Amino acid sequence: MTFLSEISAIQNIVYIFSSILFITGIKMLGKEDTAVKGNFFSALAMFIAVGITIIDIVNPIVLLGGIILGAIIGSVIALKVKMTSIPEMVALFNGFGGLATFLIAWSEFNSTPDNLFQHILVMTTLYIGGVTFTGSLIAYGKLAEKIKIAKTSIITKVLTTIFYASLAFLLYSAFVTPFLVVNFEFFTVLIVLTLIGGIGFVLPIGGGDMPVVISLLNSFSGIAAAFAGLLLLNNVLIVAGSLVGASGLILTVIMAKAMNRSISNILFVGYASSGSSNSSSEEQGEVSPISVSDAYLILESASSVLIIPGYGMAVAQAQHVVRELGELLEDNGTEVKYGIHPVAGRMPGHMNVLLAEANVPYDVLAEPEDVNPTMDAVDVAVVIGANDVVNPSATEEPGSPIYGMPIIEVHNAKTVFVLKRSMSSGFAGVQNPLFFKQNTRMLFGDAKESIGGLVSEFKE
Ligand code: TAP
Repeated sequence: MTFLSEISAIQNIVYIFSSILFITGIKMLGKEDTAVKGNFFSALAMFIAVGITIIDIVNPIVLLGGIILGAIIGSVIALKVKMTSIPEMVALFNGFGGLATFLIAWSEFNSTPDNLFQHILVMTTLYIGGVTFTGSLIAYGKLAEKIKIAKTSIITKVLTTIFYASLAFLLYSAFVTPFLVVNFEFFTVLIVLTLIGGIGFVLPIGGGDMPVVISLLNSFSGIAAAFAGLLLLNNVLIVAGSLVGASGLILTVIMAKAMNRSISNILFVGYASSGSSNSSSEEQGEVSPISVSDAYLILESASSVLIIPGYGMAVAQAQHVVRELGELLEDNGTEVKYGIHPVAGRMPGHMNVLLAEANVPYDVLAEPEDVNPTMDAVDVAVVIGANDVVNPSATEEPGSPIYGMPIIEVHNAKTVFVLKRSMSSGFAGVQNPLFFKQNTRMLFGDAKESIGGLVSEFKE
């Protein structure tokens, strides 16, 4: 056995060990109390895998320099990012993952693939990596509201056409042309089409749908990494890439299901645009507003309160005062629970992240299927900046765009307080009959100010 083959055997054993550690870490992310350790284990697994990869590199200086520079940039960005901007950060990081695999495929093309399977792998890795890169940049721009090109504009239509052309060109170049005649000019056309195609893939999708698209692009970056692993015959890249690819896809499906939409509807039709739209928002009767002091009197005598946070709580950054209100209610002898809808807010786990940031204990958070059966026993349901996720049209109006979406059925509670600034609709752009129900009281104003007012009343 030569020295090099010994090293390669050791590397493979360490790769298997890091893969197991990586999978264990990801599994631990599924429970709140093991999540922090799980994150550490997965990061450690990656660290070990990268460490063992570079031991047999003749000149590791450039590689080490890249790792250190990347680690510094990544850490600074992650430390500085605001909680509400995490989806943007994830979009950018996905994009860089895509770029890395794109570059790997490019360099493999230069070393001339020597069989048809390798040729197809190079082409598809390059394509998925490239589309993920530019697509993620557009997703970032849309989420950060830096890109405001209408999905119906000519530019969008042209770029979307180029996306379909790039897909056709990929199929042609990967499967139809004999691999040995793919020359540099041909390859250059594929690269250009791929990068523009990524833009055309994401540009027509509504800004509000970007979290779902980011999850899909995350899955793409994993698939591209797994393909790159096959190209480089690197086991750990295959395992890690497949995990990211599969979990990203599962998350995409879960998010689409929780919104009662198909992925094709999100990608190719999309009812949504960023921000709230007032399209089908005609009002349906009289609403009953309530003042902070009257709301306090009702809350003060309630024995059970359910708090339902939504996107507006994130906008108002009201999570800390909400936690304070919850504690004051509990001190007053009220049972307090939080009803968390899986797609409340604009990213997976949005509400859980915000409430964890404000130190709300996990055991008071409940899912719709847990709170709905006992809703009629709730004295007051306090809806804080949530709209679509408590819209009864989803269960009562078959023609509604959100019909079929599971909701938190607050309308069955004895009294409902809805905290929002106006009568405008939520993400789906549909009016909410909840606001006009007899047991609903509208507490108009910024959520942070309204909850702050209630907190002051309790303290006086
Ligand atoms: P939305 O239906 O979007 O409603 C949010 C409400 O918050 C608005 O009606 C708005 O009314 C209110 N609001 C905004 N700023 C506020 C402030 N400062 N103070 C008080 N209220 C404020 O939110 P939701 O119920 O959380 O539903 C989420 C929606 O997003 C669903 O349709 C879901 O399908 C979609 N979506 C979710 C995700 C994920 S993964 N979470 C991803 C993509 C799309 P005013 O303007 O009148 O205040």
